[in-house]
Amino acid sequence: MRAGARPANRPRRPSAFAVLNVVGLATVVVFAMWSTGRGARGASAGTTPDAENGQRLYVSGCASCHGRDGAGVPTRGPNLEHAGPASVDFYLTSGRMPASEGTGKQVLRKPPAYEPDEIADLVAYVSTFGDGPPIPRIDAASGDLAEGQQLYTANCAACHNSAGSGGALGQGYFAPAVTRASNLQVAEAVRVGPGAMPAFGSGVIDDEQLAAITRYVDHLRAPDDRGGLSLGRIGPVTEGMVAWFVGMVLLLVAARWIGARV
Ligand code: HEC
Ligand code: HEC
Repeated sequence: MRAGARPANRPRRPSAFAVLNVVGLATVVVFAMWSTGRGARGASAGTTPDAENGQRLYVSGCASCHGRDGAGVPTRGPNLEHAGPASVDFYLTSGRMPASEGTGKQVLRKPPAYEPDEIADLVAYVSTFGDGPPIPRIDAASGDLAEGQQLYTANCAACHNSAGSGGALGQGYFAPAVTRASNLQVAEAVRVGPGAMPAFGSGVIDDEQLAAITRYVDHLRAPDDRGGLSLGRIGPVTEGMVAWFVGMVLLLVAARWIGARV
């Protein structure tokens, strides 16, 4: 086009405002998808569990301590016939299993050794050994916070401390912080009673009370979010990165747009 000439019918360039809006919206959508994905992680995968694959994983990763048929091996691992889905899911998602040593020592939380779909496969297979508590279906958000606080104080605080940060129990055992467990793991721990923790069946703590406790533990993780949006409580460094990244993208787009006009 000749210098200076500005055809009247030239297609209108989208305004800076519109461009920024689109970029902003896209960023929000991408971030929302990303944080939803984070939340979903750890729950069992959407596909149907494959007990045959679970058996393969069990034989190579678990049978040496728990026996081929789950009957247990003296000094190495307990009988799993009454472990049930809640226990298997809890021990695998919290990385406690596979253990590196035999019985007699507290097993600690670690990053999980298996992918969520492999955990679902192992749960399906180990459940064929016998029966035990199912994975609890608890909606923490529906729980009553005040009731949860009372129940937590009465049943959990003696070992886990009123702030949920845990404490020593003696003889080398300790109650870990409850705040690193997911909502589902909290509900599972209550039903299963891992290690030195007592199990609370639904006759002692019913599902509605369990939802209240789970909600309260969730509250203990971050009593409130000072300083605005929490970004899923992923920590100040990550939050700073997100702010920096979003800001940079907006600046780049604005600079390009201004540059393109002259
Ligand atoms: C090195 C030995 C070892 C290996 C390997 C091992 N476990 Fe364990 N497992 C143990 C011990 C010891 C305990 C008891 C720990 C405790 O409850 O504090 C245990 C406890 C468990 C429990 C809880 C039992 C209950 O009564 O609720 C489950 C479930 C379990 N293991 C599943 C598995 C699975 C699945 C694998 C394979 C992925 C596995 N374990 C691999 C030693 C082992
Ligand atoms: C007698 C002491 C005791 C009581 C009471 C108790 N716990 Fe525990 N809890 C423990 C111990 C010990 C462990 C660690 C078990 C292991 O891994 O060997 C534990 C583990 C847990 C975990 C797993 C933490 C993680 O990071 O994986 C959660 C969650 C939990 N307890 C919640 C509760 C709740 C909720 C209550 C009340 C309903 C409760 N506990 C009552 C002793 C106790």
